[in-house]
Amino acid sequence: MAAPKAKNLKAFDVLSKESQQCAACHKDINRGLFQQWGDSKHYGANVGCYECHGAKSTDPDAIKHYGFNVSVLVSPKDCAQCHEREVKEFTASHHANAGRILGSLDNMLAEVVEGKIMFNGQSPAAVSGCAQCHGSVVKVMENGDLDPATWPNSGIGRINPDGSKGACNACHQRHKFSIVQARRPEACGKCHLGPDHPQKEIYEESKHGIAFYGNVSDMNLDSSKWVVGEDYDAAPTCATCHMSATKDMPITHDIGGRISWTLRPPVSEKIDAKERGRVKSWEDRRADMKKVCVACHTSTWTNDFYKQFDAVVNLYNDKFAKPGLSLMKFLKEEKLLSETNFDERIEWTWFLLWHHEGRRSRQGAAMMAPDYVQWHGLFEVAHRFYIELIPEFEEVLHKAELKGNKKAAEKGKKLLAEILSRPEHAWFTGKEPEEVKRARLKAQQEFKQRYAQ
Ligand code: HEC
Ligand code: HEC
Ligand code: HEC
Ligand code: HEC
Ligand code: HEC
Ligand code: HEC
Ligand code: HEC
Ligand code: HEC
Repeated sequence: MAAPKAKNLKAFDVLSKESQQCAACHKDINRGLFQQWGDSKHYGANVGCYECHGAKSTDPDAIKHYGFNVSVLVSPKDCAQCHEREVKEFTASHHANAGRILGSLDNMLAEVVEGKIMFNGQSPAAVSGCAQCHGSVVKVMENGDLDPATWPNSGIGRINPDGSKGACNACHQRHKFSIVQARRPEACGKCHLGPDHPQKEIYEESKHGIAFYGNVSDMNLDSSKWVVGEDYDAAPTCATCHMSATKDMPITHDIGGRISWTLRPPVSEKIDAKERGRVKSWEDRRADMKKVCVACHTSTWTNDFYKQFDAVVNLYNDKFAKPGLSLMKFLKEEKLLSETNFDERIEWTWFLLWHHEGRRSRQGAAMMAPDYVQWHGLFEVAHRFYIELIPEFEEVLHKAELKGNKKAAEKGKKLLAEILSRPEHAWFTGKEPEEVKRARLKAQQEFKQRYAQ
């Protein structure tokens, strides 16, 4: 909203002596870099190379450089000299903590299943994959250089040698630090895309994305004040809904501040205040998101959208996720699977069901992309559940039986039978009430007739 506090600006009526020297030399060495800086608001405010790259000789990543102490990394702590509020909000967010993926199931994929042939002690799959989005632990080597297995890296939860978390240039690309670039959906699209979290593709499919790309020249993207409904109304971008100001809410760099569910785990939950870094209750966070919607929609429209969204999440949770989770837990508890993850077929099946397809259906519903709810979402979930997970579960029980573990096999069959006896699965076991079957047959015949004409 408002430009950064000007309190530090006083000192910058002119470019500092140090920065003048850096700029004079780098002007010829890195023409592009110099020009980007020259086009930036920082340049206009006399924020130069040294204000960002200057270091104390005691800083863990300081290098001696033509008589100066500089550090190549510019961490949130450095930006905080002038942008304290943004850094505080960012540091409290899930973004800043995205480097904590060690020990997760996905991490085993990069470290072990896909990796193991190492580069400076790290799995190349993680260095150029996971860590480029989530953030590396940046290491300074004995000679003072940065370990190439850990940098270049601008992962959102990077762990910096000065102890700070994150990288502001994950979204604000240097050296222009352009506000236009950060407000565009592409700023998020490096990370929020692909089979397990296709928010970028979802947005592009949604009417909001269509409206954005169709009317981008009306978006007023370079205005310093950017309040939805006041400064623009053509479309919301990712930033509009998750970060930007409304007439009664300021910009926030805590991107979790307006979401009520977490759609990432196998079973979605509405995380409450104080849990996992949340400050407000899920109801209050949802109320904040609705403040964005009502700049362009009515509250009835908005509330009814949330009913549709919740219904998809509840359907996925109750019909597929909770039963699937209980089947997988049973196999682990009865030791019918090995202790190693991902060495058995059913473990991949279950992972694809919740981590890819289940997330897609939920996120599609959250951000209005019907194709992600249906064909990339619940269709795949249903296929995975009925045609793979259940037969594979039965196969594991069958093997247990052959090995003489009759007790566990019987227990497993009972659990499965109980799940499949629920009305939502009756179609699969052929136990639907006759009138339901007849009604469907009738509808099918009518459908065929319509198309025969
Ligand atoms: C006399 C010329 C000169 C001056 C003055 C100078 N630099 Fe450099 N700087 C260089 C050269 C040469 C390189 C190496 C470029 C390359 O490898 O492509 C470099 C590299 C760097 C790097 C990257 C270092 C690395 O290890 O990757 C940074 C950051 C940097 N300079 C910042 C600064 C800052 C900040 C100042 C002012 C405090 C400054 N420079 C002053 C010439 C200079
Ligand atoms: C507003 C802060 C800011 C200013 C001003 C700034 N930089 Fe940077 N610079 C960054 C950030 C952020 C990075 C990314 C480093 C990282 O990974 O943390 C960076 C990276 C670099 C790099 C290494 C990356 C590469 O692509 O080789 C060099 C060299 C560099 N800056 C030089 C300069 C010079 C020279 C100036 C002045 C003309 C300057 N910077 C002004 C923030 C700044
Ligand atoms: C020494 C103070 C200082 C430091 C350090 C600094 N900035 Fe700034 N920054 C400013 C000032 C002053 C402005 C406002 C310029 C204006 O509005 O004309 C600004 C503006 C911005 C803007 C808004 C640009 C726009 O187009 O409105 C962004 C984004 C930004 N800074 C990001 C960063 C990031 C990221 C870092 C660290 C890598 C950083 N700044 C480091 C002083 C600083
Ligand atoms: C293209 C960028 C990208 C890559 C590569 C990537 N992730 Fe992620 N990851 C994300 C994003 C974005 C999210 C958040 C998705 C959401 O909220 O829907 C996420 C979520 C996660 C989560 C869930 C965190 C939570 O709070 O529930 C874990 C764990 C995870 N990733 C681990 C990994 C591991 C390990 C790898 C490498 C095998 C990896 N990721 C590769 C972008 C990436
Ligand atoms: C997830 C992407 C993202 C990250 C990471 C991020 N920003 Fe921003 N930032 C934005 C967006 C988008 C805007 C524009 C919001 C608007 O104007 O509606 C913005 C605006 C700003 C502004 C303009 C000031 C304002 O409030 O109007 C500053 C300064 C800024 N960011 C600094 C930072 C700093 C410092 C960091 C690192 C701690 C950072 N940002 C990290 C996306 C990001
Ligand atoms: C019209 C507003 C709107 C736009 C535009 C939008 N989102 Fe969302 N987003 C939402 C809503 C609503 C939710 C679900 C909120 C809840 O849980 O209550 C959500 C949820 C999310 C989540 C959480 C997913 C999870 O796994 O828990 C992420 C990540 C996300 N959005 C990223 C993005 C990105 C990236 C973009 C742009 C490519 C974007 N959003 C565009 C409204 C929006
Ligand atoms: C460099 C990669 C990267 C970029 C760029 C990025 N994100 Fe994220 N985002 C992540 C990762 C990784 C997570 C999961 C963090 C975790 O929970 O560990 C995440 C999580 C989120 C969440 C869920 C937060 C929560 O509290 O549960 C939202 C919402 C989100 N991002 C929105 C955005 C938006 C909007 C942008 C662009 C303005 C953006 N992100 C840019 C990597 C990124
Ligand atoms: C900047 C204005 C703006 C904001 C903010 C906004 N929308 Fe929209 N929304 C639109 C436009 C434009 C359309 C397309 C209308 C049409 O179909 O003609 C739309 C369409 C929709 C649709 C219908 C989708 C379809 O495929 O028919 C839903 C549902 C929706 N928005 C929900 C929301 C929710 C929920 C929020 C807040 C999280 C929100 N919108 C925020 C402008 C906005």
